[in-house]
Amino acid sequence: MKERPIISEEALAEQRQYMASVRDAIGQTLKYHIVTLGCQMNAHDSETIAGMLEEMGFENAPTREDADLVLYNTCCVRENAENKALGNVIWLKELKAKKPSLIIAVGGCMMQEEGMSERLQKMYPFIDLVFGTHNTHRLPELLYRVIVEKERAFEVLKTDGSICEGLPIRRNSASQAYITIMYGCNNFCSYCIVPYVRGRERSRSMENILTEAQQLVDSGVQEIMLLGQNVNSYMGGGAHFAELLYRLDKMGVPRIRFMTSHPKDLSDELIACFGELPHLCKQLHLPVQAGNNRILECMNRRYTREHYLELVHKVRSVCPGIGLTSDIIVGFPGETYEEFEDTLSLVREVRYDAAFTFIYSPRPGTKAAVMPDSTPYEEKSRRIQMLIDLQNSITSDICSQQIGKTEHILVEGASTRDPGFVCGKTDRGHMVNFPGNIASGQMADVRIISAGKTTLRGELIK
Ligand code: 5AD
Ligand code: SF4
Repeated sequence: MKERPIISEEALAEQRQYMASVRDAIGQTLKYHIVTLGCQMNAHDSETIAGMLEEMGFENAPTREDADLVLYNTCCVRENAENKALGNVIWLKELKAKKPSLIIAVGGCMMQEEGMSERLQKMYPFIDLVFGTHNTHRLPELLYRVIVEKERAFEVLKTDGSICEGLPIRRNSASQAYITIMYGCNNFCSYCIVPYVRGRERSRSMENILTEAQQLVDSGVQEIMLLGQNVNSYMGGGAHFAELLYRLDKMGVPRIRFMTSHPKDLSDELIACFGELPHLCKQLHLPVQAGNNRILECMNRRYTREHYLELVHKVRSVCPGIGLTSDIIVGFPGETYEEFEDTLSLVREVRYDAAFTFIYSPRPGTKAAVMPDSTPYEEKSRRIQMLIDLQNSITSDICSQQIGKTEHILVEGASTRDPGFVCGKTDRGHMVNFPGNIASGQMADVRIISAGKTTLRGELIK
């Protein structure tokens, strides 16, 4: 992974100046509402966007209707994510008709697609501002142009991107925090648009990550989730991901998780961490995508079914009881029924705690988008349902096996389903609901007393 430039102090100072200018210009408190689509990386980018907006004097609004600025942070990994974003943004036209001062901004992965920003600029005159994934830090200047200079601001950079340190972050939780440790992806899986919209891999320096983690721990954060499109290919100043985990574990971060890992980069050193690091949660998200070797090759995944199963075996021998989860694509171009059956058999063999399953969605500019695909959509839907049914029965079995265990739970808040209950995850990643009046961010020992299809129910021990 190449060293990438860090955005200069001068460039950031300029943006800080714009933040101050916007704050002075608006003179009153305006409200923002951010809608985030897509993955945890986007969720964390939205926390940075919120941090900048608050620095500019904006306050968080609970709904779009209450806001003076609505910002969509978009995803484009599958077509339905894109349709959802577009549908939502178009709906804002009505809101703006009622409130002409409303500022509408759109950012994120979808804006990095070839021609997308130009298309929005032309077709949707009610959109005021567009930015991409490589210039999030320039939002203050763009907003200045909209608010003070009263013009539309559309800016998307083609560059692979650099790293931006030191932007303000408004975190959604006081006890659980995301830290992005690397950006971008070099893998070019043939179906995936991410390398085109997020650019090449670049890692933050170990010192910057450790400093951020220390500040979080000092402020009472109990769980840190390390993020990267390909988190385990982290390479900061010559240090590998396993080394970073060792350093964080020593720092005393109570709980560490990370995602997403690519099987080809799951080194023995990283696997050993699961046996050696007390603060590393027993949970690994290791997307397999498909169980058939020909399909894996067409996907450019660079591992075989056998190699993947060998990795699972190694991980489980180092850490029995680890919770494994996966992403799986059904209906890749040319996938036959027999090839799909290999995915089913792999799922039976691995027995994931949970799997995110997707019907293949052609993405413009990717290699797979031009591969012949004769399987009807109905057949793909039938197949994904078979996969979901299989995974659901495995998930439910694994949940039942947790009954009787005592688990250390980090309370995340009130349960949305059961009044009087709170919820939180086990080390292995299962969500547990239990009665009690415990504040979020507290740890609780809970005995699991029953299991639903995907969640557990417990009783408080202490
Ligand atoms: N179609 C369907 N699913 C996709 N994913 C990525 N690209 C596509 C696509 N074109 C899935 C992969 C990835 C997850 C984040 O999204 O399973 O791991
Ligand atoms: Fe996409 Fe593959 Fe990179 Fe994951 S590893 S972001 S699936 S190209």
